[in-house]
This record gives sequence, structure tokens and C-alpha cells, in this order.
Amino acid sequence: MSGAAEWLAETRASYDTLASSYADAVRDLLEETPYERALLTLFADFVKRGGGGPVADVGCGPGRITGFLSGLGVEAFGLDLSPAMIEVARREHPGLRFEVASMTDLDRAVDLADGSLAGLVAWYSLIHVPDDVIGTVFAQFRRLLRPGAPLLLGFHVGEGPELKTRGYGGHPIRVVVHRRRPDQIAGWLDESGFEVEAQMTLASAESRLGGILMARRRADGQ
Ligand SMILES: C[S@@+](CC[C@H](N)C(=O)[O-])C[C@H]1O[C@@H](n2cnc3c(N)ncnc32)[C@H](O)[C@@H]1O
Repeated sequence: MSGAAEWLAETRASYDTLASSYADAVRDLLEETPYERALLTLFADFVKRGGGGPVADVGCGPGRITGFLSGLGVEAFGLDLSPAMIEVARREHPGLRFEVASMTDLDRAVDLADGSLAGLVAWYSLIHVPDDVIGTVFAQFRRLLRPGAPLLLGFHVGEGPELKTRGYGGHPIRVVVHRRRPDQIAGWLDESGFEVEAQMTLASAESRLGGILMARRRADGQ
């Protein structure tokens, strides 16, 4: 198995193992994270002011962000690497669309034409993608988003990768969490054709530093 396939397979297997425990842990977390709620609400407002349309929640896990955005009137659907997470998401949010797909290979995701998305959110999911693959992921985000559409990222702030071997519910896992500085991600976004509009650092519910970045896809040639 190649190195790249191995980290992806380990991430998938780990989240498959802890899907139910993770869902239980985060189901009501937005109630305790008002800054996150506010930025997600602003994102929804941008999508609606831009005329609306499909919005992808990439790395949606059990679908709590997809569900929140849907409750705000956004046409949100979820994509996740882990089939078990998608199963939980479908169960917890009947009526919403969820599909198995990796953000490293969105070409395989169903019904995603170039420029078809009115917005994209990746909430604590890019944290599992190594630095040297981020450019590929952002290029796919850009291809799928229409010009001017908002992109919202949530991530762990810090320096470097950390291997996690125990997950929610105490399950043994093997997942690398890449902690990053907001300006590092902002630089990659700029290089990938996005205009960064806002960046924020906050203490999350777990007292770890969380980061939020709001950007927009630039028009071609800009
Ligand atoms: C920390 S959870 C966050 C879940 C959800 N966004 C939330 O905030 O509750 C990370 C999620 O990212 C997913 N993930 C990790 N790597 C991914 C990839 N390459 N493509 C799609 N999803 C991925 C995992 O399966 C997991 O569900």
C-alpha cells in the first residue's frame, strides 16, 4: 500500500470505529460554541445572498453542521471518507443527502459538476490531510465552487502533526491531526485562487485553540 493510501485508510478505519461515540460527543456541541455558530450563520447568509444553491459539508462526520446549515435554509449535503459516519449522518438527519467521498478525490463524488457549488464548508476535517496534499484539495474545492462562493474552514490551531491513538469513547485509533497557524492556511488559500476575508482564533469547547477562516473563490484570471 502506498504511503498516501495508508494514511487515508487509517483515517477511514479510525472514524469507522468511533462513528457512534463521536456522534454522541458532538451532537449538541454547537450549543456550547457560540462563535462557531455565528460564523456558520454568517456563511449561510453569504450563500443565500449569493443566490443560494447546493452547499457541500466536506468531512461532515455525523452531519451536525449539515443539519445546522439546513435548518438555516441552506441546501446542504454532506460528504465523508468514513462509510460508518455517513450511515450515522443518514440516520440522524433523514431527508438530507450524505455520500461517501474523500476530499482528496472529489471527482468520484456523485453529481458534482465544475462551478456547481454555492458554498463549501470543511469543519475540522482538513486537519487529517497532510500539508503536501492541501494544494490538491483546495484546487478541487475551487473547481467545484462558483466564482464568489464562500468557503468556510474550521481547524485546530498549533504547530505540526500529532498522532492520536485513542478516540472518543476510548476506542483505539490511528489518526494524525495536523495543527496549523491560520496565516499558513490563508497563504495556501491565496495561492489556490481564494480571497481570504476573515480569520479567527478561539478557545474551543475542549480548551484547544480552534481556528476559523472565511474565504471566497476568486473569479478565473484573478
Ligand atoms: C473531527 S471529525 C469532524 C466531523 C464534522 N465536520 C464535525 O464537525 O462534527 C473529522 C471528519 O473528517 C472526515 N475525514 C477525514 N479525512 C477525510 C477526507 N480525506 N475526506 C473526507 N472526509 C474526511 C472523518 O471521517 C471525520 O468524519
